[in-house]
Order: sequence, then C-alpha cells, then structure tokens
Amino acid sequence: MALPEIHFSLHFKSGFRIREINHLSVNCEFKYSAEMSYFSGVIMTKPTLHFGEAGIQALDALLLSKTPSKVFILVDGNTSQCLPFLAQSLAHLPADFEILEVDPGEESKELEVAANLWHVLLDYGADRNALLINLGGGVVCDLGAFIASTFKRGISFVHVPTSLLAMVDASVGGKNGLNFAGLKNQIGTFNEPDLVLIEPKFLETLPESEWESGHGEMIKHSLISGHNWPKILGLRSAQVKLKTISESVAVKEKLVSIDFKEAGVRKVLNLGHTFGHALESLRLAQGNSITHGSAVIQGLHMALALSGLADAQQLLNAAYSWIPISDVEADLLWELQRADKKNEDGMVKFVLLSSVGHPKYGNTITKDRWCTSLAALNGRKDG
Ligand SMILES: NC(=O)c1ccc[n+]([C@@H]2O[C@H](COP(=O)([O-])OP(=O)(O)OC[C@H]3O[C@@H](n4cnc5c(N)ncnc54)[C@H](O)[C@@H]3O)[C@@H](O)[C@H]2O)c1
Repeated sequence: MALPEIHFSLHFKSGFRIREINHLSVNCEFKYSAEMSYFSGVIMTKPTLHFGEAGIQALDALLLSKTPSKVFILVDGNTSQCLPFLAQSLAHLPADFEILEVDPGEESKELEVAANLWHVLLDYGADRNALLINLGGGVVCDLGAFIASTFKRGISFVHVPTSLLAMVDASVGGKNGLNFAGLKNQIGTFNEPDLVLIEPKFLETLPESEWESGHGEMIKHSLISGHNWPKILGLRSAQVKLKTISESVAVKEKLVSIDFKEAGVRKVLNLGHTFGHALESLRLAQGNSITHGSAVIQGLHMALALSGLADAQQLLNAAYSWIPISDVEADLLWELQRADKKNEDGMVKFVLLSSVGHPKYGNTITKDRWCTSLAALNGRKDG
C-alpha cells in the first residue's frame, strides 16, 4: 500500500493557531493526501510549550496553582550555572527547593543514576504531589522525565531546556529514556511534562561545540516543513533568537500533536537518523565519537542523496560538508542500519523527501541503492 504523502506548511497568517509565543502566533497547517481518519484515535498532546518572559510567568503561575509539596530541580554539573537566573525569576519557587545534580554527559542516562535519584527523592520524603524541574540539555530532560514518570507511578515534572538541541527537540514530544545494555534509549516511557519553558537566555553559556547538535535538528525541521529553507543553513549561534527556535520546535510539536506514540506521521522526524545513528555508533565503537548533531547532518546528506535532491544536498554541503566513508566502513554502516530499532521486517527504512517540505516515511532502501548514493556522495562514479 502506498504511504500517504505529507504536505507541510508553516506560516504566520490564518489557520489553526496552536500557541501564543510572546507577541507572535505560530500557525501550523498540515494538508494530507491521506484520509483524515488516518489520524483519528491518536493521543493529543497538551499545550505545554511556553517561551521567554511569558514562559517564566507561566511556570511561576504553575508553581502558584499547583502548590507542590516539594520542588526538586535536576541539573548537571554544567547546567547548574543556569539555576541562579531561573530561581531569581520565579517569585513562587519555594525557598526550600532541593537541587539534584548529576554528572554532565550521556553517562548519566543510566539505571544506576536513576536509582540514586529515586533514593534521594525518598530520603527527602517526596510524595505524589512533588514537582521535578529538569534544568538542562537532552540528558537531564530524558533522565528527569524518566525518574518523574516512574517515581510513585508518576509525579509532575517540567522541562527547562538549556541546550539548543533540547529546546528544539528533546524537551518536546513526551519521550524519555535511559541507555541500557550499551544501547541508546532502550528503557523509557511516553509521558508529557506539565510545562516546557524555552528561554534562549540559557544558551549564553552553552559551549560552541554543542551548537551543531541543535543546528542539525533545526536543519532537519526545515527540510521536513520547507519553512526557513535554505536560510536556516546560514544561521549562526550568535544569531539564534526566540522566533527561530519557536518556528523550528513548532514543526516537531505539530507532528507530535497528531501522532504522539509515533504510529505513523511522527516518523518523518527520523529524517537523517537511520544513517546518523549508525554513524554515531560506528564512530563510538572506533573510539572516535562524534556529536549526535554532526551524525544527523551526515544522515541528512544521505537522505537527500537517496531522495535525488542534488540541489538541496549541494546547499547542505556548502554549510556542512559530507565526510567521505571508506568501503570497509560502508559495510559496517549498512549492518548497523539493519539493526536500527525502527526497522520493520528486517528491511532498512529511510525517511525521504519528494521535495523539500514533502517528507515520506517507511521507504525501503536496498543495499545497492544505498551504495550508489554513498558513492555519489563520496564523489565517485562507480558503485
Ligand atoms: N526525548 C527526546 O525526544 C530526545 C530527542 C533528541 C535527543 N534526545 C536526547 O538528548 C540527549 C542529547 O541532548 P544534548 O545535546 O542537549 O546533550 P546534553 O544534555 O549532554 O548537553 C550537552 C552538553 O552541554 C552542556 N550544557 C547544556 N546546556 C548548557 C548551558 N546552557 N550552559 C552550559 N552547558 C550546557 C551539558 O552539561 C552537556 O555537557 C541525548 O541523550 C539524546 O538521546 C532526546
């Protein structure tokens, strides 16, 4: 059966208003060639995204209305520097809030760390009316959401993302996760925070080396929606404003709102990730690890090549060049792609674009076709 083609447009005029963003309104409009019933019965997400000063006020109002029995703020050793600004901005943050600090980095997304945090919550007498604020990047958001979702069958939590990647991606969509048995995100739940506060001020302390991770996901959102393409490629870290972030995250939020459990259309958010995850794993195994974002950017190169969108691939190449893959690595990457948990029936599936702004998920890619695209990317004519 042919999969539905998705036509995606994001604009600022009429249409279905999904969120007030300070004085802006972000509107998303989706048109589908599939029957609308295709989307019936999905779990709709709650309106949780809040931005900037208005977002701080929304979180303050939540603290006032919820009157949590105890407030905990989860940070890592780097994002703890974001705490003074947050604490000073919230008039209704109880003075006796507790800070939970974990080590920065992926190593904290482990069951042992989660168990330690559950112990600390018990030691502080946390009950089901406690509130956890996750102040950090994707690691803190994933870990915090997981421990909150499982402690006493679930306590309330809020995300305050501090990395660009967490602002445009990890804090939105209700997925949380821990790494397990050496594999990424094997344990986790779908559960939405009470509120997500996106405040670009936190990016002031984000190291430049983390920029590519967030920018890669913004480029992906632009390719999926067509919005801001190819302008997004020229964006620099110093220029990132609330408007750009809100436009980017609106792409993910809209897809999540119609397919929370990733039964269908949400899968288009995996654009660039089949190859990207494989490359990330390969480099890790080689002791030469790369950021998730740079792996995704290479994955976008592959997706554009497989889609036959040479012009878009060349534009991407001018911003982030393709890094050639050797024949030996190609075989290893193919096997890693075959092991991707998102595959079905042992087939390698890719999200492709029929054009920028028109993604299609569930495309089976043969090794021959993949090798041809890889060779083209590597600048060779032979397969
Ligand atoms: N749940 C989801 O839907 C989802 C989506 C995408 C990614 N993720 C997860 O997100 C994680 C990656 O997120 P990430 O790139 O934010 O990594 P991260 O949380 O490790 O943050 C990257 C680094 O930046 C530091 N940092 C973050 N904000 C800072 C700030 N304002 N000032 C100074 N330092 C700061 C962190 O301490 C860390 O060292 C991965 O574990 C990935 O699996 C989850």
